[in-house]
Amino acid sequence: MGENTIFADDIKEVIIDEKAIEKRIEELGKEITASYDDDADIVMLCILRGAILFMADLAREIDLPVVFDFMDVSSYGASTESSGVVRIVKDMEENIEGRHLIIVEDIIDTGRTLKHVIDMLQTRDPKSIKVVTLLDKPDRRVQKKIDADFNGFEIPDEFVVGYGLDFAEKYRNLSFIGVLKEKLYK
Ligand code: XMP
Ligand code: MG
Repeated sequence: MGENTIFADDIKEVIIDEKAIEKRIEELGKEITASYDDDADIVMLCILRGAILFMADLAREIDLPVVFDFMDVSSYGASTESSGVVRIVKDMEENIEGRHLIIVEDIIDTGRTLKHVIDMLQTRDPKSIKVVTLLDKPDRRVQKKIDADFNGFEIPDEFVVGYGLDFAEKYRNLSFIGVLKEKLYK
């Protein structure tokens, strides 16, 4: 188990511990830094709420000036199944026309959320859109063309929580990623 023990009884297994997250984010930061010019005008868009810890840690590993912005989209209620309905709860504030956009996601599952967000943001004419996700569940993809440009970890089809990810708004402050015991949501 990782640093925090608060929800120890709810977690079946720790699949990515704090050290592994830290190490992988360092690597992602280097990859992202290398993929832009030094004077690139970059907006990092955090998809709330799951990606906030990832965004905070990743941004400090990117050795380029970046602007922060936030968007809240909702595709899940207190359930673990994708509804297929994506709603913009809070739009971003920055004008992204002619600028490089990095979308920061916690997890790509079916790909529905990301497809919707990308389609909408593309109409605002950014110079480029890249996606960085901490986790990827490729086996669950419905939107076959949706993929991340930078991906932290591929994980199997299990419901995970921690390091920003929740179940019914709980478990976000765990320092590791763990599989939730099934009896808690089934
Ligand atoms: P889609 O299916 O649209 O889903 O790619 C993306 C969003 O679904 C949530 N999600 C999860 N949240 N543990 C979570 O805490 C999971 O295992 C999980 N799988 C999907 C998440 O909000 C993500 O942005
Ligand atoms: Mg999310």
